[in-house]
Amino acid sequence: MADGLREAALAVREQAHAPYSAFKVGAALRTTSGAVFAGCNVENVAYPQGTCAEAGAIAAMVAAGERDIAAVYVVAGSPMPVPPCGGCRQKLAEFAGPDVEVVMATVDGVEERMSMGALLPGMFTAAHMDGAT
Ligand code: THU
Repeated sequence: MADGLREAALAVREQAHAPYSAFKVGAALRTTSGAVFAGCNVENVAYPQGTCAEAGAIAAMVAAGERDIAAVYVVAGSPMPVPPCGGCRQKLAEFAGPDVEVVMATVDGVEERMSMGALLPGMFTAAHMDGAT
């Protein structure tokens, strides 16, 4: 399922701007159309303004007019695979259903797989706003 995504995530990771954490992350996602979009983390001297790799990939996808994520791949240079942060789980859930597989990987090739539903159980959705007063 992740054909080509690992390569795209590894390549974009090289572009990461991570002078503060020195922790480079690359994310690639495939949409249901088959297109692949990638993003890297972009840190800022005002630390909270930094953005995650997943957010970059999502922004590229939406800018291209796409909305439906079919698969996600995240890679970092850590000894263990890095899961998306809480905020990124919510961002991904906006465009990825609970069955979408998220592959978390290391540069060395260790991979872990989880579904979006497992990564973000009990997620906040538009349905929670139905009937609000
Ligand atoms: N980071 C990501 O880009 N994605 C993740 O899934 C985890 C963390 C980035 C944010 C920050 O630039 C650096 O990793 C250290 O937290």
